Amino acid sequence: FDVKTFKIPGQHYLDGVLLGGYSPRESIEMVKTFDMFEDDCVVSAYPKSGQTWTLELLYLILHYDNYSENEETDSLLRTPWLELGKIDNARIRELGEVPRPRVFKTHVAAHQLPEQMREKHSKMIHVLRNPKDVAVSYYHFYRMDASLGRFPGTWSQFYEMFMAGNVSHGSWFDHVLQFWREYKDNKDVLFLHYEDMVKDHAGAVRKIANFLGKSLNENVAEEIVRRTSFGSMKQNPATNFSKYEGFDYSVSHFYRKGKVGDWKNYFTVQQNDEFDEVYRAKMADSGLNVDFGE
Ligand code: A3P
Repeated sequence: FDVKTFKIPGQHYLDGVLLGGYSPRESIEMVKTFDMFEDDCVVSAYPKSGQTWTLELLYLILHYDNYSENEETDSLLRTPWLELGKIDNARIRELGEVPRPRVFKTHVAAHQLPEQMREKHSKMIHVLRNPKDVAVSYYHFYRMDASLGRFPGTWSQFYEMFMAGNVSHGSWFDHVLQFWREYKDNKDVLFLHYEDMVKDHAGAVRKIANFLGKSLNENVAEEIVRRTSFGSMKQNPATNFSKYEGFDYSVSHFYRKGKVGDWKNYFTVQQNDEFDEVYRAKMADSGLNVDFGE
């Protein structure tokens, strides 16, 4: 197949960006008009950047006191994905009734965020991860997830699709740079790097708590680190998507490796050289640096 035009059934374009059928055009357009509160926090990310981990960290930091009552509630209910599925009045009501402070997940592009976020000064955390590891993680996710068509191709074919921006949510460069350019100096927005979180998990908890103006005593902070380790989240039925039937675990796992630098096991020398050249050209004047784990 042609990697530049290959499409999974249900995928569609909005504003020139390829999107999965799980996020219909109407839903993404409606996100813009959502009612937001000043204590909301949106976690935005390009896919496979450590967003599930960040959502769980935020949920625990903000709702630790009554966490035990909701321990078994699925993470998609505790921290809903704004543009997932068809949005009707019932869904809007449901989102409105999420206990405050609300934490939301989104993959929409920067210009598709709820418009009220700016005037209400709602908070946003944008998680980003080095795009070589994102590509490898996304490849495995494309292979295992039914909503992404259980991609039957090879790593090299997926690499070409990723470089062409012909994957759900389009080009990593466009998605991330749009957020970075628009929000890097905005004090309501925190950019978190997956690699920093892996290097200093406890530091990430403190950084997020600080940003949200939440003080945590040391025992609570330690407990949050324990509950959000790769192993704990993989075991936890509320965070491991074990009720979702779309994943083929004979192919890969949602909690696959959780490491920095796995790309070295996939990228050929030629792919790496080509990638570095594209990376330099696209990122040159951005002032944004990512850690490839070299
Ligand atoms: P890998 O496929 O490289 O293992 P997202 O939640 O944005 O889809 O990102 C998924 C990636 O985050 C996966 O990467 C997954 O293993 C990793 N991840 C999820 N929870 C994690 C945790 N608690 N610690 C470290 N990595 C985690």
